Amino acid sequence: MIDYQNLIDALAQDTLQKKGSLQEKTPLQQWAQLLPEQIARGLSQQRWGDLPQWQQVLADLPALTPSTIDFRDGLTIGAPEDASDAQRQALKTTLMGLHPWRKGPYDLFGLNLDTEWRSDWKWDRLLPHIRPLDNHLVLDVGCGNGYHCWRMYGAGARRVIGIDPSPRFVHQFYAIKSYALKSYAVKNNDPTNQDLPVDVLPLGIEDVPPDLAAFDTVFSMGVLYHRRSPLDHLRELKACLKPGGQLVLETLITEGELGHTLVPEGRYAKMRNVWFLPSAPTLVSWLRKTGFKNVRVADTAVTTVEEQRATEWMNFESLADFLDPNDSSRTLEGHPAPQRAIILADNY
Ligand SMILES: C[S@@+](CC[C@H](N)C(=O)[O-])C[C@H]1O[C@@H](n2cnc3c(N)ncnc32)[C@H](O)[C@@H]1O
Repeated sequence: MIDYQNLIDALAQDTLQKKGSLQEKTPLQQWAQLLPEQIARGLSQQRWGDLPQWQQVLADLPALTPSTIDFRDGLTIGAPEDASDAQRQALKTTLMGLHPWRKGPYDLFGLNLDTEWRSDWKWDRLLPHIRPLDNHLVLDVGCGNGYHCWRMYGAGARRVIGIDPSPRFVHQFYAIKSYALKSYAVKNNDPTNQDLPVDVLPLGIEDVPPDLAAFDTVFSMGVLYHRRSPLDHLRELKACLKPGGQLVLETLITEGELGHTLVPEGRYAKMRNVWFLPSAPTLVSWLRKTGFKNVRVADTAVTTVEEQRATEWMNFESLADFLDPNDSSRTLEGHPAPQRAIILADNY
């Protein structure tokens, strides 16, 4: 069973009061009251038939105690000498029960969990541009298995809350967290330690109460193009931010002037659920129209087959199979190949 009690207690103790409403519950306190039911729905066995199998993976993880942990320069938990070859093999076999592993990579006790994506490359592209996360309360919308949540914590965030409606990815996160917790327990000399303020909730952005106005930084990476109504998504993200907070938005874009947007009629790179791919100037104008200030493009990058590829941890098709074999600047459907932008915007 995944234990969310520390997170719920922390939100319930939120002390940020709106002026003149000292007796009222804060938006985070109100969310804390909703969370048990939302979590039960997000992890309901009626909805997710594979749930018992994923829960079993968490139960079967080999008992290993990491002597080292690093979220800052990469994602390493445990040194090779903390596990025998047989234990490393057991760890690999168990974690394979949560295949496909898309976001990473993770180095676990010397095991290279080589995921489909080099998510560390995205992190390296954005980190020099964003506001320092020191002591920030951070929300990562559509966080997948939470890889970037750990990197945010490693960059100094006080607490990171990721949300993702895929319970398989949520279980991947808690498999990693079970070892991170052990490392902190050793560090703090407290074997019962369960307090590591990084969590992933089995929720979509539509489950987050409106007008939270609670987070210092909100990340939305790889989500906007999956939303049928992108301006509403931007409004939802804005409503999560404190006044003065920063949005870090990463999404697929297409080349073009202000006003140009690609709306693929059928699939895009074999994906069925891709709706809007704006040009960078169009995306900036959407953010301004939503009320964000100081909107700027920090980075654009064409996705390469080195950054997104099939591995033994994700053995389905990947980017190379989605591109035209005779022209890698086009998708199989003839659209421009995936290009992504990182955009920063302030909530003033
Ligand atoms: C392309 S992945 C991006 C993962 C990660 N943020 C990254 O940039 O590597 C998109 C993620 O958004 C999640 N997602 C889909 N619909 C969502 C929604 N309504 N709210 C929040 N997340 C959603 C998916 O489950 C998936 O894990």
